[in-house]
Amino acid sequence: LHARLSITRDNVVAPVSPRIFGSFVEHMGRAVYTGIYEPGHPTANAAGFREDVLDLVRELNPSLIRYPGGNFVSGFRWEDSVGPREARPVRLDPAWHSVETNEVGLHEFAAWAETAGVEVMQAVNLGTRGVAAAAALLEYANHPGGTTRSDERGANGRTEPFGIRVWCLGNEMDGPWQIGHKTAEEYGRLAAETARVMKWVDPTIELVVAGSSNAEMPTFGSWERTVLEHTIDLVDHISLHAYYEEKPGDLGSFLASGVGLDRFIADVAAIIDEVAAERGVDRPIGISVDEWNVWYQTRFNEVDKQPLLTGEWNTHPRLIEDEYNVSDAVVVGSLLISLLRNSDRVSMANLAQLVNVIAPIRSEPGGPAWRQTTFFPFALTAGAARGDVLATAIHSDTYETVAHGTVNLADAAATATEKEIVLYLVNRSETAPLTLDVDLAGAPARAVLSAQSVHAPDGGDRFSTNTADHQDAVAPATLLDVTLSEDGDAVTVILPALSWSIVRLA
Ligand code: AHR
Repeated sequence: LHARLSITRDNVVAPVSPRIFGSFVEHMGRAVYTGIYEPGHPTANAAGFREDVLDLVRELNPSLIRYPGGNFVSGFRWEDSVGPREARPVRLDPAWHSVETNEVGLHEFAAWAETAGVEVMQAVNLGTRGVAAAAALLEYANHPGGTTRSDERGANGRTEPFGIRVWCLGNEMDGPWQIGHKTAEEYGRLAAETARVMKWVDPTIELVVAGSSNAEMPTFGSWERTVLEHTIDLVDHISLHAYYEEKPGDLGSFLASGVGLDRFIADVAAIIDEVAAERGVDRPIGISVDEWNVWYQTRFNEVDKQPLLTGEWNTHPRLIEDEYNVSDAVVVGSLLISLLRNSDRVSMANLAQLVNVIAPIRSEPGGPAWRQTTFFPFALTAGAARGDVLATAIHSDTYETVAHGTVNLADAAATATEKEIVLYLVNRSETAPLTLDVDLAGAPARAVLSAQSVHAPDGGDRFSTNTADHQDAVAPATLLDVTLSEDGDAVTVILPALSWSIVRLA
């Protein structure tokens, strides 16, 4: 198999936005409790947060973390999560049919985020609540002081404002599963009025209005248009959520999930442009891909969802703890390639989620924490992508897919600083290696700094996973077949079958 790729330093898509390496912590399942927070754990710090998980979060290197939901936020009273812990109410969370103890709230999460070195992206509840509660939360979090609410923050241990910059106006309000689900018209009006007041309270914030929950929603397209018609003057980003899974017998379409994401982003971008043109808005409106990942939703509907339907109420139950294999890691890597490629339109993105709940990091109560297969493409991309995203021209052998028609077997993104060029590469062939010839005439290199690949381990198969007992079954391997030409104008890389790779050139 063969592909040709060419890049040039003259053809820049956009600067790399660090915010595309975001993640997500929802009060759901074991993301917070026994995920990031477990006071009795041997590695717990004085605040009750697991240091073993914190170390992995730092290694994963996310930039901003969306919080506290997700579907959870649409029934959440933020006031329940501040003030003395012993006085905080225990509530039913109808979104996940769970009991929320509110032991971790705004202050604790912000302190954790500071320790982890990440920015908080805060969602407000536009399901059961509205303008007043959102404005009150913003005043509590960001107002310097001298009002009852901002002084309450001081009394609760934090005199300095949290200074949260990015705020989501509700979550997936187009979905009938959402608490307080709305029509586009109802949501558009509420989002506009909430946005107006929030920007009056703190004009420095950025607002994300909720777009479609997925590209298959019957309202996709008309939802974005209506919502933007109400809010385009008031918001800075519109969200897009995208989850992918391997359907039985159709690995090919799954591996081409990035093609689906490219298309979804292009469709939302076209609607933004149309509404912006109609309204005479020349301010850029970014696309916030604030939930994306591989998620085996079919399994969720058949297994995890059952307690939700049979009336059990559990405290931090195991929910959607998908165990990721090699193919899943290749797809996560290729979705990151898609996000980089679309950096001129994608302003932020959040791998959903961070710990235990469809997450790159897993942890057991009282036990170990470890990296899932999907950890590696994320950590390696977030660690390397700096400077500019370069446009890529690729000519590749192809294959046929059920969902996306004819698709290239190879896909690629490239980033460049003055000192370094980084190639992010995928071979979608399940069976054969692929020889990739990269034309570097417009971006010559002197040396190969490193080359790593995630693929099936020797003697393993594509279904290999990392588990509590076998934490290192899948890990990046050194990519040996990387040949730089003497003049530095070309590099040839042999990509293993079904692999995601990263090649760093100086
Ligand atoms: O990430 C899990 C759930 O997926 C979120 O709560 C919701 O927003 C989405 O449907």
